[in-house]
Amino acid sequence: MDHQTQTITDIILKAAERARVETSNEPEPGLTKRVKWPVTCTVGPGLEGAIACESRVGYVNGAKGWLIYRGYDIFDLAAHSNFEEVCYLLLHGSLPTADEFRAFRDRLAEYRWVNKTLRMLMGFPIEEMHPMAALRLGVNLMRQEFTYADSRERRPVKGNIIGSDEDSIPMETKPRGETHAIYEFKRRSRARRLRASQQMDDAGSIQSAYHLIAGMATLAAAISRVHQGLMPLDPDPELSHAANLLYMMTGRRPTPLEERVMDVCLILHADHGMNASTFASLVVASTLADIYLAVGSGVAALQGPLHGGANEQVIYMLEELAETGDVTGWIGKKLAAKDRIMGFGHRVYKAYDPRARVLGPLAEALARGKPDVEPLFRVAQQLEAEVLNRFGNEKKIFPNVDFYSGLVYRSLGIEPEMFTPLFAVSRVAGWTARVLEYLHNNRIFRPRAIYVGEFHKEFPSPAERGF
Ligand code: SDX
Repeated sequence: MDHQTQTITDIILKAAERARVETSNEPEPGLTKRVKWPVTCTVGPGLEGAIACESRVGYVNGAKGWLIYRGYDIFDLAAHSNFEEVCYLLLHGSLPTADEFRAFRDRLAEYRWVNKTLRMLMGFPIEEMHPMAALRLGVNLMRQEFTYADSRERRPVKGNIIGSDEDSIPMETKPRGETHAIYEFKRRSRARRLRASQQMDDAGSIQSAYHLIAGMATLAAAISRVHQGLMPLDPDPELSHAANLLYMMTGRRPTPLEERVMDVCLILHADHGMNASTFASLVVASTLADIYLAVGSGVAALQGPLHGGANEQVIYMLEELAETGDVTGWIGKKLAAKDRIMGFGHRVYKAYDPRARVLGPLAEALARGKPDVEPLFRVAQQLEAEVLNRFGNEKKIFPNVDFYSGLVYRSLGIEPEMFTPLFAVSRVAGWTARVLEYLHNNRIFRPRAIYVGEFHKEFPSPAERGF
């Protein structure tokens, strides 16, 4: 480990120690051994307090500020693991052995090619779409490349399948700033194509989860390139998931520091309890719709500014504040208008979000000396101090994961509109792990609404309605 990547680990370990000290007064929760359904709970608006299912995938404790994946603390995972390993852990339930890790990492690297999906996606005006809308579309299109979900009865014999990238028909599209461009994706080697044809599977298997984790990074990077008016790049199977993601977006192989920073961001965002996008994925999967459509719903839910979309909004807010310089006056106006301050508050955390504990100091270290980021970081610090001063003790409103992540991405040279897609590229690990877990013991989700309308209204005559 070089000096710079060691600095990142030191930041994480320091954040872990602060978290431990600051929440030491809160009692530790006991382990839940068995759940006997039905369970009794009090449900508030927005299903607050409702229990949707049992899970072994991950755990969030709002009082202690704990985030746990399969029993492992998020700080330990961020300090000592990597995104591929975390994906394996979330999907399979335990850390991989060295052999299992190598095999899994190689499989993900192989599954980065999503040529047929890209060809379909490039037929849409993605340069005009928000990257999250394009990503959702791409995820749904992936099922046409990797499954026979729509043609079960005409399912070909596996040996006869033509690899999805067998042809290399040039595709025409118009990325921003160009009137005409041709995309052509490199063909895979014959061995890879054959293996790819054997990978076609039902749309609810663990293979689908691997395809989604590997393929969504390629899709997000391609969308980012088109938005920059550039051609999508082929993946580099020699690079780690984090390094390849950065490479496919920027066209430059990242430094070890940049790779490590992206890896930490991917680890921190991979899973987070029964958040809105995870629940959306589970609801769709519970109808036995396939996992590609379920994950597409996760992407859609994540896009909103009350959820993952907040990270993009935070940067715009910081830019506005850096321009005016009046943080106190701005907060006063926001609160008077009952507006939400982006990047603050959380349904579960009543302590500092452990991910923000890492991302804040990380942003500080990376912003140092960068004229386009450092002033924004300073404003972010002022804003945090002001919000904690007003709400910290009483309402327990702290920065959440989305407050500092954008500053970290900005330091890596990434455009704000890609912040939420990067969240999705990581969270797909949690979505798929939880969907596959839920399907083992599936029951369709079907809550109720409290009807507050009327009964026995008399149907009016056409004349009464002016027909
Ligand atoms: C994510 O659920 C997850 O796990 C999500 C997530 C994940 O990893 O999946 O952690 C990722 O989505 C992070 C959240 C990103 N969103 C934002 O940063 C948007 C701003 N924050 C919020 O609007 C809000 O805090 C939520 C949406 C995050 C939580 O909403 P709740 O639980 O419904 O809380 P609320 O809106 O009902 O607020 C409760 C009180 C209110 O005060 P009172 O009316 O009770 O007096 O807290 C206040 C609110 O006014 N409040 C805020 C605030 N957040 C809460 N006031 C101002 N600004 C805020 N950001």
